[in-house]
Amino acid sequence: MAVSKSNENLSDGFIAVVDSGVGGITVLASLVAELPHEDFVYFGDSAYTPYGEKPQEWVYDRTREIVDGHIADGANAVVIACNTATSVAAARLRRDYPDIPIIGIEPALKPAACALAGGTILVMGTPMTLKLEKFQHLADQWSVGCTVIPIACDGLAGAIEHKGADSREVFELLEELIGKYRGKVDGVVLGCTHYPIAAEAILRTLGDVPLFDGAAGTARQLANVLRDRSLLRAAKAEGTIEFYSSSDEEDAPAAARELFDSYRNTIPARV
Ligand code: DGL
Repeated sequence: MAVSKSNENLSDGFIAVVDSGVGGITVLASLVAELPHEDFVYFGDSAYTPYGEKPQEWVYDRTREIVDGHIADGANAVVIACNTATSVAAARLRRDYPDIPIIGIEPALKPAACALAGGTILVMGTPMTLKLEKFQHLADQWSVGCTVIPIACDGLAGAIEHKGADSREVFELLEELIGKYRGKVDGVVLGCTHYPIAAEAILRTLGDVPLFDGAAGTARQLANVLRDRSLLRAAKAEGTIEFYSSSDEEDAPAAARELFDSYRNTIPARV
């Protein structure tokens, strides 16, 4: 496993943030904003993006391998910054690691339904996230009074990861997947952590509607759990952020850091 952290002081630990690729960086930005004194290690499994179109057992085994690797390296908490891997693996991982906080992410349907009572809400997600029971429960619970339209966005995470958010591939795919809803929805839930990277292209396709993602909620949840378990760092110095990737492209960690630096500046505009 190409995951390592040269952390000499394991008793102080670090927070591992994992995703199938660069998508989890949209969550990392909120985590760092909420918990600026913690040390974070980001791992993007870019060699294997997308997860959402692979078999469920494969996604479980791969997520498990990555989480096991980070815990063995000294993580004192893990954030699964991927809706797909959370749906498949979070509950089983929590059972197996009762002493390590394992925080997942889910499509932000609850805040969208509360903000847009009675409205029509598009939920974009990977085919895997939208077909699993976890999303079905969420939709049963929060769609009351609203019209919820789930759209399985086959190919979109992979296109954002490999072609870039501004690419012609992403624009064409968005037009095909959601173009017909332009002017017909009141809000959109971005139920895959890759999609906020393409927020501009999504708004260009759908018109000016509010977008909801689960990053801020995940950050609050992590902060609460760390506080409850007395795992917050006492030191008040700014924490560190390290980037790793399974991609064999040498500059992948540097590209991830660059994406993080530019994405984090968009956070105030989103909250
Ligand atoms: N970023 C991931 C998610 O939130 C998965 C994208 C993929 O690899 O399919 O679902």
